[in-house]
Formats: sequence, C-alpha cells, structure tokens
Amino acid sequence: MEGKLVLVTGGAGFIGTHTVVQLLKEGFRVSIIDNFDNSVEEALDRVKEVVGPALAAKIEFHFVSFFVSMTFQKNCRFDGVIHFAGRKAVGESVEYPRRYFDNNLIGTINLYEVMAKYNCKKMVFSSSSTVYGQPEKIPCVEDTELKAMNPYGRTKLFLEEIARDISQAESDWQIILLRYFNPVAAHESGKIGEDPKGIPNNLMPYIQQVAVGRLPELNVYGHDYPTRDGTAIRDYIHVMDLADGHIAALKKLFTPDFKGCVPYNLGTGRGTSVLEMVAAFEKASGKKIPMKLCPRRAGDATAVYAAVDKAAKELGWKYVLLTS
Ligand code: WQD
Repeated sequence: MEGKLVLVTGGAGFIGTHTVVQLLKEGFRVSIIDNFDNSVEEALDRVKEVVGPALAAKIEFHFVSFFVSMTFQKNCRFDGVIHFAGRKAVGESVEYPRRYFDNNLIGTINLYEVMAKYNCKKMVFSSSSTVYGQPEKIPCVEDTELKAMNPYGRTKLFLEEIARDISQAESDWQIILLRYFNPVAAHESGKIGEDPKGIPNNLMPYIQQVAVGRLPELNVYGHDYPTRDGTAIRDYIHVMDLADGHIAALKKLFTPDFKGCVPYNLGTGRGTSVLEMVAAFEKASGKKIPMKLCPRRAGDATAVYAAVDKAAKELGWKYVLLTS
C-alpha cells in the first residue's frame, strides 16, 4: 500500500479525522476535501499533531466539495476514494429532508462522475446501519431486507442501490459499502474526537456536553420501547475500530480478487440501551448526567445491532475496543 494516494471526502469530520490518522500510519498519502458543514479546519491541524511532521507532510487539503474536479485535476491520480462527506443525523433528517437529499445524494452522484472522468474506480463508501430500518431480526446480517425509516437512512439506502447499479453496469468499479453502527469515543491522544457544530444530534456528544456543563440535561428520547429498560438499543463502536475497518476495506479493494459492490457491517454485535450508555459514562467519568424522559424521536428504531461475521471473515477486521 506504500504511497498509494487516497482522496478522503469529509476528512475533517469525526470518523474522517480518525481514519486519516490510520491511513497515514499505514503508509498511504491522503488528500482531503471538506466543506466544514459539521467540522472545523482546525481538526486537520490536530490530525497533523497526532501523526507528527513526517506523516503530516503526506496530507494535502482542498476546501469545499465543488473543488472535487479541481482536486482530481491537480492530483490526477487517486488510487481510491473514501467517501465520508454527508449529513448524518436521523432526527435532523426528519426535520430537513431536502438538505439530506441534496448533500448526500447529489454530492455523491457528482463524485461518481468526477471519479469516472479521471478513471478512479475504487470507493469505500460510508453507509449506515440505518439502512436496516427497524430490522425484523437482530443482529442485522448484511443480506437482511433493507428498509430505511427516516430520510437519512433513505439517502444511504438510495446510495447503496446506486453503487450496486454502477458496479453491475461497469465491472471495473470496485466498491465497498461500510454500514457503521454507532461510532463513539476518540483517539487516545484526546486531540481529535467528536465535536459537532451546534447542539449535538447524537447521544454521546450530547452526554459529553452535559458532562462539561455546556448543556443542562440529557433528553432521553423514548422510555416505552419494548426493551430491557424501555430505552432504545444501539451498537456503539469505538471510532478507532471504525477507522481500522476502513483501512481493511481499502486494502481489500486493492486485492486482485475483489469484484463489484459488497456491503459489510462495522459494529460490535452487542446492543446497549440509552440508559446503559448514560450509566457507563457516569461510571467512567465520575460525572452525574441529569436526564429528562421525553417522547420517542421520530425516525428512531427500537433496537439495532450488527452481525459481525462477514467483516471478520472477508476483511479480517473485528472490533477490539469498548470490550467491557
Ligand atoms: C442513539 C439513541 C436516540 C440523542 C447514528 C448516526 C447514524 C448511524 C447510526 C452512522 C437513539 C437516543 C439520542 C439524545 C437520546 N451511524 N438519543 N437523546 O440515531 O442511532 O444514528 O447511528 O452512519 O449516522 O446518527 O444515533 O446517537 O442519534 O441516537 O435519547 O439527545 O440515543 O433516540 O435511541 P442513531 P443517535
């Protein structure tokens, strides 16, 4: 892999920054584009601090997605693309669906066109466990019937179908769809982590902001779910494990036998409820998290967690952190 050049869209974001750190450590060169919709340019300075000057020298950076074509012209030869860029909050997507269709769908379709123009046809695509909707059977197996239940999940489902159609029609495209479950935590240095703009949509950054006093209390959305404590269950995975899942997927794309468009779950296979997450955070941090029990959030599923065998068998990847 030494020296291969990878374009990382959304590379200044939560999962993007952690993946860039691991890509550099694995010997890849990296070019990043980001429109800072939900990230800050300073995050890239922190990435450079984490990896040190020698590896930092292997990072290029290009602002805003309409530069994608310029990025390609400038570099001409990307060996592959990891496509993170997109909006990713379930609740927000219910409120503002058009933003999600524009950003996630149009943005990705534009990216495919530029990739095709410059004959770069290897993509690791950031998909999501939300394509499973409220699965009949859990843990979710990759060939489970897909049926998203919110606009965010529908954009990811549409984009998976688009990827399948492209690779069906043009056999030289090699695409891996990574279905993330719930990314949490941060790089051990503490220099990079989840720092969304405005009020966090996701559970963990919200809890963290309550813990530091930036927000008064956590709204617990739904306590009447048919689960062990009435709150919804998700599969929370350490972001460093998720980053390593991208490295494994990228390496798979460069193997001669990889063909077509293949989905993989990136999760732990364990379900944790909202109240269990709060209790674990309180235990680990010693901070009490005040809570308010609220009605369910539109678009939320009751329980979603991953079957993890396929990624272990075909990518040689399994989560290692957050084991307790
Ligand atoms: C988790 C649970 C909420 C906030 C995320 C990502 C999505 C995808 C899947 C990557 C739910 C509850 C939340 C709060 C709460 N991952 N909650 N109070 O909706 O599972 O989706 O993981 O693609 O991108 O967004 O995550 O953290 O928003 O919610 O009670 O203030 O926490 O109702 O049950 P979700 P989440």
